[in-house]
Amino acid sequence: MTNEKTLEATASAMLAGGKGILATDETAGTCTKRFLECGIESTDDSRRAYREMLYTTPGIREYISAVILCDETIRQSAADGRRFVDLLNGAGIIPGVKVDMGAKPLAKAQEETVTEGLDGLRERLNEYHEMGARFTKWRAVINIGPEIPSRYCIETNAHALGRYAALAQEAGLVPIVEPEVISNGDHDIDRCQEVTEHVLHSVFEQLAMQRCFLEGIILKPNMITPGRECPAQADAGEIAERTLKTLRGCVPAAVPGIAFLSGGQSGEEACERLGAMASDGPLPWQLTFSFGRALQRPALQIWGGDPANVAAAQSAVLHRARMSSMGRMGRYSPNMEQASV
Ligand code: G3H
Repeated sequence: MTNEKTLEATASAMLAGGKGILATDETAGTCTKRFLECGIESTDDSRRAYREMLYTTPGIREYISAVILCDETIRQSAADGRRFVDLLNGAGIIPGVKVDMGAKPLAKAQEETVTEGLDGLRERLNEYHEMGARFTKWRAVINIGPEIPSRYCIETNAHALGRYAALAQEAGLVPIVEPEVISNGDHDIDRCQEVTEHVLHSVFEQLAMQRCFLEGIILKPNMITPGRECPAQADAGEIAERTLKTLRGCVPAAVPGIAFLSGGQSGEEACERLGAMASDGPLPWQLTFSFGRALQRPALQIWGGDPANVAAAQSAVLHRARMSSMGRMGRYSPNMEQASV
């Protein structure tokens, strides 16, 4: 197979009907923060045990096509010695890895960040491919405030996303391109839409300029929502309509799929909004989910670091995966939440 065919085949398997992507690529720092909120001690082994609980959930492959790991997790193994990458591949789930090194202060731009990690990236990508990863993720962070984002911040991040995506494709890995417009703040939905449009135009300009093969990427955007502190919140119908209008105007039809991040939405909100988009007629790309918190939150609380809770936590993650799958298929209804936990 040519490299382009391989990328297309991987992207298509990641976007398989009715399934989505489980994001478990929190760095040790972020994972520690989430563990502390639930009173769980964060050690290499507790993070490992938590990921093992998620990856070995019986039946999860019915709803999850791929899992995003972080550098720490991709080097770890299950208690029985199987490397996580092998365990996931063996279960028919495609393993991938977050390759950015995080959002760092952008020089001469207070409050804004640029995602770093390009130095040595070619070598790291080859190592991850060797380990069995078949896709990668890079997240750019764009904050909204009275004076931000600046054009400088948007274009610097878009350029880095383009460089990352080209390198990932060269290594035979599908790049998930994630320009996240953060929902913190009191801005209204118009402002989120305006900023997201600007960001997506800039990202696709860079992807084209840097010779990325659009058929071999997956876009991971935010939905168009008002800021979390905005007094005028929006219902699922309006969020779906605004998000689709934005995506139709900015994302070329050559892109095979769009997998939304949850960005702090509850699992129920994220499923309802995804469901409203999926019911909106034919679209040029597959629409799916690549949720982190919206899939994991209840499971983490139930698990609590105690091996005795593994089965209950797994049934919670399976439930959220099933609800998200229903959302993707346009069949989600909040009534389904009571069916099981
Ligand atoms: O980069 C963010 C994660 O991959 C998705 O996490 O769904 O909690 O926003 P989230």
